[in-house]
Amino acid sequence: MSFYTNDGYLYCEDIKVKHIQDRIPNSPIYLYSLNRILENYKAYKEALDGIPSIISYALKANSNLTIARHLREAGASATLVSGNELKIAMAAGFDPKLVTYNGNGKTTAELSMAVLHGVMVNIDSEFDLQHIKKAAAETRKTANVTLRINPDVDSEVHPYVATGFKNSKFGIMNERLDWYLKEIENSSGLNLVGLHCHLGSTIKKVRVFQDAMKIMIHFFKEIREKGFNLKYLNLGGGLGIDYEKNQPIPTPSELIDSIRDYLIPDLTLIVEPGRSMIGDASILITRVTGVKTNGSKNFIVIDGSMAELIRPCLYDAYHHIGFIEPVTGEKKVFDIVGPICESADFLGKDRELPTPHETAGLVVYDVGAYCYIMSSNYNLKMRPAEYLVNGNQLIRIRRAETMDDYMRLFENDPVAI
Ligand code: LLP
Repeated sequence: MSFYTNDGYLYCEDIKVKHIQDRIPNSPIYLYSLNRILENYKAYKEALDGIPSIISYALKANSNLTIARHLREAGASATLVSGNELKIAMAAGFDPKLVTYNGNGKTTAELSMAVLHGVMVNIDSEFDLQHIKKAAAETRKTANVTLRINPDVDSEVHPYVATGFKNSKFGIMNERLDWYLKEIENSSGLNLVGLHCHLGSTIKKVRVFQDAMKIMIHFFKEIREKGFNLKYLNLGGGLGIDYEKNQPIPTPSELIDSIRDYLIPDLTLIVEPGRSMIGDASILITRVTGVKTNGSKNFIVIDGSMAELIRPCLYDAYHHIGFIEPVTGEKKVFDIVGPICESADFLGKDRELPTPHETAGLVVYDVGAYCYIMSSNYNLKMRPAEYLVNGNQLIRIRRAETMDDYMRLFENDPVAI
């Protein structure tokens, strides 16, 4: 088991979380369960059993090097969105030929690096195609490319994380497909190997993937009929997780079963899960600084904030909140807020919880994806440490940032222009 409570105490695998908090000087901290990460990977692996496929972990969700290495050792590939993610992927030992590089604004420098490493590059626009062509010419390599189709499917998610709409900033204009094919055909440096789409994130219905699959397979066959030797169909990522702890979210098996019938011979399916691979594998452990009431509102003030975890204030996202130890004070409805000087700084609103004592350990669940990686130094909060639990072992996988780290980047040097 990854996270569970016993006698009012929260455990991560074999370790009492309170025990960790008491022994570590920094707070808040991110704590990961290796078991949970590997179970999530296994769920995709089993779902794809018998289907030629690549499970391409979306590094953008969490690019901690140790986590990336564990997933690579388990058998995952990686999906990237920047040159720096390519560097992490290489450091983690992923096979570049199976790595996908997506993005609507890849720079020419990033593209040259990607082509040089031999990763699959996703063509997102007409200018992107020209830039990839240039990168191939400059590096004297052939770029294996995929085309990002826009299936125009409603993923029924928050508008900030919906990406598969016709009017989204991602992907090619499908009506221009013939132009792209002609350009690729006439470019000796480009080799079209597949198609890609990504519909959005936090998707809760397999029908969304199914609708997209029908459209994608139609394009796939059409392009093959035109003589292109397509191998990969990349359905992107997007499967949600049960943040609310009471919602039926489809499993990877249900997702794959819903599209299985559309698969055709000699096609390798790529999926790019981020959130469903790592989201529920981490908790943010904070300490209660104090409890206060203003007007009709009760607040639990903690040492974690929108600087460490921006999802609640950015997307109005729900993260489950509890305590790592028995808390027996009067039950009330609280907003859980941090010390940052603005009212957007909340991690939970209107939560019924027992009134905690000062220094009590408060936990925010499901913070493995898009949390640490979206943290900031706002109000000069330093990025927290990350720890990984493996059974009864606790491993620090990234130390806390310090003021010294921060100060080191200041300079006052005249620049020749
Ligand atoms: N592939 C591509 C091309 C993507 O753009 C994304 C995420 C993924 C795969 C992985 O999607 P996932 O399986 O994690 O849903 N910051 C937001 C999420 C943005 C996701 C963007 N794209 C959040 O905190 O909810």
